[in-house]
Amino acid sequence: MDNIVKINLQATETFVSKNDMEESFEKAFKSFDILVNGSGRGSDSLGWIDLPAKTSDSISYEIENIVERWKKDIEIVVIVGIGGSYLGAKAAIDALSHAFELQLGKSNGPTIVYAGQNLSEEYLSELVDLLKEKSSACVVISKSGTTTEPAVALRIIKQHFEQKYGKDETRKRIVAVTDVARGALKSLALQEGYSTFVIPDDVGGRYSVLTPVGLLPVALAGFDIRKMLNGAREMEKICSVKSKDNPAIIYAAIRNALYSKGKKIEILVNYNPKLQYFAEWWKQLFGESEGKEGKGIFPASVNFTTDLHSMGQYIQDGERTIFETVISVTKSNRSLTIVNDSQNLDGLNFLSGKPIDECNKMAELGAKIAHIDGGVPNIQIQIPTINEYNLGALFYFFEFACGISAYMIGINPFDQPGVEDYKRNMFALLGKPGYEEKAKDLRNRF
Ligand code: PA5
Repeated sequence: MDNIVKINLQATETFVSKNDMEESFEKAFKSFDILVNGSGRGSDSLGWIDLPAKTSDSISYEIENIVERWKKDIEIVVIVGIGGSYLGAKAAIDALSHAFELQLGKSNGPTIVYAGQNLSEEYLSELVDLLKEKSSACVVISKSGTTTEPAVALRIIKQHFEQKYGKDETRKRIVAVTDVARGALKSLALQEGYSTFVIPDDVGGRYSVLTPVGLLPVALAGFDIRKMLNGAREMEKICSVKSKDNPAIIYAAIRNALYSKGKKIEILVNYNPKLQYFAEWWKQLFGESEGKEGKGIFPASVNFTTDLHSMGQYIQDGERTIFETVISVTKSNRSLTIVNDSQNLDGLNFLSGKPIDECNKMAELGAKIAHIDGGVPNIQIQIPTINEYNLGALFYFFEFACGISAYMIGINPFDQPGVEDYKRNMFALLGKPGYEEKAKDLRNRF
């Protein structure tokens, strides 16, 4: 079987010896066992491992019912969520959408917009401007139901909907995706009579893209979630095999081998702007999973060729603590060739008749060689093309690789104690009851 995700390590070989790679493989195998046997820290959060296989058709069916219900007269769907309750959906929708669908007028379903991913007063005010003009609905996603940013956004949207449509109609226009039983959002949804979808207890935010957290928004945007799940299922099978052919084991092994050589920053590179938010999702997955206890590779990202004209300089020539991981898409979904120009004033007629994707690929190869020469190892992750199936596979691949890799570093991949610190300070500064002493302390400091 041809793997959907292929890893090419040729451009790391001068940085990691065969012996070092063997050692890293041994560690990756041990971490693989810890992950699949559930014997490591955070083992109550492993529900995502067999999630694609055990996701029944009834979930897709329920999601498609909402899509059908809203298809007729909903123009805008606001997806409310932050972190793991937002980035996966945005990553998939951006990757699959026409770059100019807004300008062209969307043809396959409502336009998706986002809220609850920031606390900008301007952003939310401008969202209300939009909601006033358009027939809208909202999917609010929060596992805990207590995260401030989405809760604030929901208050604004709910109040606006109730004024505009009345309580009964609002009930039909808000769907909540949340924890099975606990949490403020669950109580609110029950009280208000909103439809709900469940985020399984044992699936953490950043591992939840293949639950309704990601699937519902993707389906509302007009894409095929059954194909996405099938891709993830295929990858689940591939990742379950403990071997040196398992792409997740290879990726975890090489990134940790590079880390131990002082390569502390990993830059995820794409050559298609549609993948920009995929990188944001990946950064959250690895950053929140691995950045703990003074350890972890720092995940960064660039969009090439755009950023070859900005960050390219640093990558080529700056501090030598970087390695690159390139998501390389074999086949473009569209074809366009470069036209001949009889005057040839720009001197580019040597490109006439060539597909633009060929130029992109040569930029990729050229940058790869330049960066290796500059001391930057390069891992290539190849996918055949951008579509629902391959994205499903890629999501699962990175989740699985992240689980292995984090255990190799020796931390719990499934908690995020550091995220809580800013929240406590913010609550204290905003006057939340019970935080009075902390507030005094903080105000004395600044
Ligand atoms: O990955 C995580 O656990 C976090 O990024 C959460 O997804 C994020 O903080 C949002 O949490 P919640 O879904 O509870 O609102």
